[in-house]
Amino acid sequence: MSKRLVTLAIAAVLVLVTVAPTFAQDGLSGELEIFSWWAGDEGPALEALIAKYNEMYPDVTVENATVTGGSGVNARAVLKTRMLGGDPPDAFQVHAGQELIGTWVVAERMEDLTFLYEEEGWMDKFPQGLLDLLSADGGIWSVPVNIHRSNVMWYVPAKLEELGIEAPATWDDFLAVCPTIQEAGLVPLAVAENWTVNHLWESVALAELGVDGWNSLWTGEKAWTDDDVVAMWDKFGQILDCSNIDVDAATLSWQQATDMVINGDAVFNVMGDWAAGYMATTLGLEPGVGFGWAAAPGTAGVFMMLSDSFGLPKDIKNRDNSLAWLKLLGSQEGQDIFNPLKGSIAGRLDSDLSLYNAYLQSAAADWQSNVVVGSLAHGAVAPESFSSEFGTVMEIFLGSRSGIAAANASQAIANQAGIGK
Ligand code: GAL
Repeated sequence: MSKRLVTLAIAAVLVLVTVAPTFAQDGLSGELEIFSWWAGDEGPALEALIAKYNEMYPDVTVENATVTGGSGVNARAVLKTRMLGGDPPDAFQVHAGQELIGTWVVAERMEDLTFLYEEEGWMDKFPQGLLDLLSADGGIWSVPVNIHRSNVMWYVPAKLEELGIEAPATWDDFLAVCPTIQEAGLVPLAVAENWTVNHLWESVALAELGVDGWNSLWTGEKAWTDDDVVAMWDKFGQILDCSNIDVDAATLSWQQATDMVINGDAVFNVMGDWAAGYMATTLGLEPGVGFGWAAAPGTAGVFMMLSDSFGLPKDIKNRDNSLAWLKLLGSQEGQDIFNPLKGSIAGRLDSDLSLYNAYLQSAAADWQSNVVVGSLAHGAVAPESFSSEFGTVMEIFLGSRSGIAAANASQAIANQAGIGK
């Protein structure tokens, strides 16, 4: 090698040596525990984000602590024990809205993240409505990683063709095709364990009560005992008669209900669009071919939203590492790594839609043009004291099939939770 080449080679090594440490930003080291319910086949999006974090902070050891169970039914219980026991995880998944604000924010267990939003220039990077959902008592309490849609109906296009039917525009249309599907020996609507029944219910309630009716349940302007709410419960009962609720639902995960549709045992399923993540990322199906979608019956033009977020608990072991995690998941790059795999769209306004599949592009268009309402089953609209008791209302309904009994029970828990007070 000539002298000149040797000098160049040394210079190149020197550049690498001086650049590499800046890559391991801020010299972070130690550990970071990330707590969520994105386990097993719900894991790829989170794992991709953790891989990015590992690349940025190679000296931090990340513990991906998951508690299996769709919609966080089990994770929330474990989190409660840990928070009350003074052992908070460094970062935990929580739905934007009342699920965090009505619990750990009012208990003064979270740090206000307004400073982070200001430092990172995020104040105008997220829609105001989303920031409002994350805010209370003059603070902003978590960083949203995504927007999911609750009111989606899934099916396999070829199956509908085979049966000669279309995705129903209303629940009455669904009830009209239900016998045809049952006669073909199939389940018209797949449901799974308890929370998925609450999930279905919120789409039915939105359809039957309309946007104003749905919203006014949460302001307390509308009584749960109103005639149209009772009628909605009765319609919900008829819809459940077209499902596997009394067969095997309780033993199934939400993914298994999706599988029933994909395998051709069932025709429709109403689930949040994490189902699109499961079908596209985990099962490798092509949107529009392997699976089709429509707004849940009677809810076209309305986007029932929820958002997964992470906050900064007080008194954690690894605050700097946790802050670095929050910065990554609130960044454009972080959101565009996570969401195309997750089946959600970015919370940020500036994501690169070319990275997203056909389903997600259609969800992004609807998010812009539709009327947006919040989800009950995923923590957006009601105080935790209401949403955690709603399972009891559902049990009463499933046991009695009485719309009036369910209406009275819901009114009682709404009163207890102080809705409208
Ligand atoms: C929701 C959550 C989604 C997805 C789903 C199924 O509550 O917001 O991200 O994880 O549960 O587990």
